[in-house]
Amino acid sequence: MPEPDQPATLIAEVIRSRRTTNQFLDEVPPNEVILKGLELACWAPNHKLTEPWRFYLLGRETSQRIVELNAEMIATKKGPEAAQKKREKWSSIPGWLVVTYQRANDELRDKENYAAVCCGIQNLSLFLWSEGIGMKWTTGPVTQCEGTYEILKLNREQEEIVGVMWYGYPANSKEMAPKASRKPLSEIMKQLP
Ligand SMILES: Cc1cc2nc3c(=O)[nH]c(=O)nc-3n(C[C@H](O)[C@H](O)[C@H](O)COP(=O)(O)O)c2cc1C
Repeated sequence: MPEPDQPATLIAEVIRSRRTTNQFLDEVPPNEVILKGLELACWAPNHKLTEPWRFYLLGRETSQRIVELNAEMIATKKGPEAAQKKREKWSSIPGWLVVTYQRANDELRDKENYAAVCCGIQNLSLFLWSEGIGMKWTTGPVTQCEGTYEILKLNREQEEIVGVMWYGYPANSKEMAPKASRKPLSEIMKQLP
């Protein structure tokens, strides 16, 4: 438990103020900050201590292969212009991290592993935010397709992608303090006797 009021207030502030970042500056955040975030991700609760998270920090060569794969998918659906727009936008994303979870044969264990990795991602995201680094968790079609598993050399039977995380310094100051809201507790909570 945090002792005095201050750390609790600080953590509440980081949780509340964190927002998904959609536009990034070109500057790539220092690798040591990202590594510290990944180490903190691993302190998430995980049932049976399976430590089911796996992290893949992508260099430019690998991220560009995913950018191209995505552009091909867009070209088929929406044509070459839309594909080129996406290619340009995605090519400018400074940081790429793929997070996977280790599959379990047992259905409940499998869910628990997925849940634990989601907790870890939030640890990472909050830590990065506290360092001024924004993140976007994506689960779009390219993150689910076979081609991405091939690029990353992942065996889908054993390991599944939880998301592709884009990270970097937020470019848009409006995104740092956007108008965001959540439902009031009264709508989503029941206190039972
Ligand atoms: C599991 C998960 C998957 C997500 N996938 C996407 C995505 O594919 N594309 C996207 O634009 N945002 C994605 N997001 C981000 C959410 O859209 C975002 O968290 C939501 O709009 C709330 O905004 P906030 O993060 O600023 O509170 C994802 C978030 C989660 C937790």
